[in-house]
Amino acid sequence: MHKGNNPYRSIETEVLEVITETPTIKTIRLKPEEQITFATGQFIELTVPGIGEAPFTPSSRPSVKDMMEVSIMKAGKVTGKIHELKKGDIVGLRGPYGTGYPLDHFKDKEVLVLGGGVGLAPLRSLLYALFDRINDFKRIYFRYGARTPLDIVYKEEVKLWSGRDELDFQITVDAGDEGWKGRVGVVTTILDGMAIDYSKAMAIVCGPPIMMKFSTFKLIDLGFEDTNIYLSMEKNMSCGIGKCGHCRFGTYYACKDGPVFTYDRIKNLPNIWD
Ligand SMILES: Cc1cc2nc3c(=O)[nH]c(=O)nc-3n(C[C@H](O)[C@H](O)[C@H](O)COP(=O)(O)OP(=O)(O)OC[C@H]3O[C@@H](n4cnc5c(N)ncnc54)[C@H](O)[C@@H]3O)c2cc1C
Ligand code: FES
Repeated sequence: MHKGNNPYRSIETEVLEVITETPTIKTIRLKPEEQITFATGQFIELTVPGIGEAPFTPSSRPSVKDMMEVSIMKAGKVTGKIHELKKGDIVGLRGPYGTGYPLDHFKDKEVLVLGGGVGLAPLRSLLYALFDRINDFKRIYFRYGARTPLDIVYKEEVKLWSGRDELDFQITVDAGDEGWKGRVGVVTTILDGMAIDYSKAMAIVCGPPIMMKFSTFKLIDLGFEDTNIYLSMEKNMSCGIGKCGHCRFGTYYACKDGPVFTYDRIKNLPNIWD
């Protein structure tokens, strides 16, 4: 939410804490000078002074208003600098932008939350939003894949989630280590055998493009409807507000019309998995 006439105006934001999740992912706890309310699935633009700006999806509970967390994988210039941030540093934050997950549409439905790697960041926020109104949903299924046990994000919370009765929980890694007693295999290998009414269930998928592609194909094989598969399309973005055209994606602007799209809306567009 931005005040005044300048849509690019950032809100001064203090870094409260930096949490190392994996060798490549850190969670940054932020306190914006003005309170920011976001819907799960929306994104923000974070500016590191003197370096640049990049889009991220908050990973924290939307109902917690006095801070916001973003979980960020080191990819290049801006994310590299974000990984060097320390408690007390100041960054800029603008947003939230885009469409979130339509929770009301999931009411009385079975909901499959399917993540890969750092794709768990927006899904963590989604899970907390679902937990906040758990009785609205028939059952929640959580399936997550990481490359190795070391690459699992939110390790302590994931352990707590595995014990929740209302969550049908499974995780897998592509390659285990000597301490790993869980499943080994890509995330599509843990989608079989769910006691789910596939034709009516909702699926929310977020992860690297290759994971989203093969997960979507698998979900369709299982019987999910195209209209019930929600994908977070993290296209290249700049302005975040439908002005610059960087995120143009077929007939859509990913920043404004998305980043959450149902598969039926985008499946005929070229290069959607790039
Ligand atoms: C709506 C949205 C939400 C996002 N949420 C998160 C999040 O919660 N956590 C997170 O870690 N990342 C998220 N990303 C991706 C993140 O914005 C990019 O990793 C970041 O912009 C890279 O900036 P950089 O300056 O560090 O890298 P650069 O120096 O710009 O580039 C490094 C490499 O990353 C590639 N890259 C740049 N931008 C993107 C992008 N948008 N997607 C994929 N590859 C890219 C470049 O092609 C290059 O190969 C999100 C992206 C979008 C569009
Ligand atoms: S990022 Fe500028 S139009 Fe979408």
